[in-house]
Amino acid sequence: MRVEVQLLLWALCVGLGATGAPEEEEETRKVSLELNPGSSNSTENLLHIRAVGNGSTIHYVWSTIGAPTVLLIYTDSEHTQLKVNWTKLLSPEPHGAIRVEPANRVRYSTALLFTRIFEYKDINNTANFTGTDRKLFYPPYELSGFTWGSARDSMNSSSLTARLSGVNSTDPNFNNGSVSFQVSAYKGSGRDRSSPQLLHNANCTKMEFVLSGVKPRGNNSRFALEMVTLEKKAGRKKMKSVRSIDDEYTPTIFEVMELVPDTPNTSHALGYFQWKSVAYGTAEGGRANALPCKMYRPRSLNETLRIPSIVYAFYGEDLADGYNIEAYNVSFGIADGDFYDKHGFLGWSALIGYGTPPRDSFSVLVMCIMAVALGAPLVLLIVGSIVVVVMRRKTVTPSYEPVN
Ligand SMILES: *[C@@H]1O[C@H](CO)[C@@H](O)[C@H](O)[C@H]1NC(C)=O
Ligand SMILES: *[C@@H]1O[C@H](CO)[C@@H](O)[C@H](O)[C@H]1NC(C)=O
Ligand SMILES: *[C@@H]1O[C@H](CO)[C@@H](O)[C@H](O)[C@H]1NC(C)=O
Ligand SMILES: *[C@@H]1O[C@H](CO)[C@@H](O)[C@H](O)[C@H]1NC(C)=O
Repeated sequence: MRVEVQLLLWALCVGLGATGAPEEEEETRKVSLELNPGSSNSTENLLHIRAVGNGSTIHYVWSTIGAPTVLLIYTDSEHTQLKVNWTKLLSPEPHGAIRVEPANRVRYSTALLFTRIFEYKDINNTANFTGTDRKLFYPPYELSGFTWGSARDSMNSSSLTARLSGVNSTDPNFNNGSVSFQVSAYKGSGRDRSSPQLLHNANCTKMEFVLSGVKPRGNNSRFALEMVTLEKKAGRKKMKSVRSIDDEYTPTIFEVMELVPDTPNTSHALGYFQWKSVAYGTAEGGRANALPCKMYRPRSLNETLRIPSIVYAFYGEDLADGYNIEAYNVSFGIADGDFYDKHGFLGWSALIGYGTPPRDSFSVLVMCIMAVALGAPLVLLIVGSIVVVVMRRKTVTPSYEPVN
């Protein structure tokens, strides 16, 4: 009996799986990539991703002029244009060199800067980044001082991907290695095929931070990355942890982290940064090479940011007074886990997007496991109760018959 019920549920599940789970309304955008708009310059990188549709345009501007930075600019028109004054951008006073026109259609903007990479010696293999003795830290790698190759060769307009790759050109530890940001944009919703198989939609882009082939400066090296983000005053970003019990796509990792604006009373959507709490020790990813990652409390940087970045070119003088600027660290690795030198690779993916962050709903597989686990006993219980009631009726009924 029980086996039959289970078989029935499985058959139902397989059917459901084959037809696919009900999809949310599909939003698509026309997405284009352009490198260095309005310039023939090939020694700098300013990658413009334009995503148009649904009455709006989302502009993503990635650049390695200064610290690697991405700007997200949301406009409520399909016809807004990015304007870059290159003379100004490459001058010591870049304020106003990057604009979106018409400016009154800009509804929201934010930025994310990647500032430093920390390396420390984890002698006892505890992966305790904050508690680590200061003298076990090597001098940090300042990304604004790196030499970045042209993104042109890696740009692919059909897969909507590009790579910004840089080295610390004076440091022999980078002879065979590099730091890179692999950027992907999307026309519609879906799920990445590579680990950690993040869900995406047309309103977001993905970056994968990769530290590959860099020679560690000692044994037991672990790394951490520092990022800076900003939000208009009155708001600041808050960190949110979204737990998921569904780990079909990212085995053993149950946590999705989000950095979202904590701005009450806004009538429109805002930007977000979302990732799963995992990095990978090989390019292939996979469970065996998962390196859990940890995010630390933000530090306010309101005494103006001093790191060179395209944020000045876009926000200009407003930056100091109008915005809350905060820095965050994220460290990679877990106690008793593998060190960087095992594969000489570290890859961490995150989404940068506008609107509602993608959420994992229960997959068909997990729903079926639950249905079979919970459903079968339930069905048995119900069937059992009916049988018992019917049987009792049968046995009870004779007593109502007149004795005589
Ligand atoms: C670009 O910036 C330079 C330097 O600030 C300025 O002289 C020039 O007029 C600007 N060009 C345009 C087209 O606005
Ligand atoms: C770079 O790789 C080559 C060949 O694999 C090796 O001979 C060389 O020692 C490496 N250099 C560094 C700095 O790791
Ligand atoms: C690093 O580890 C290797 C191999 O275990 C060892 O030979 C070497 O002495 C270590 N180096 C340092 C600086 O501890
Ligand atoms: C990140 O960690 C490093 C090393 O502990 C520290 O110097 C730096 O101030 C931290 N940054 C933030 C934003 O907390």
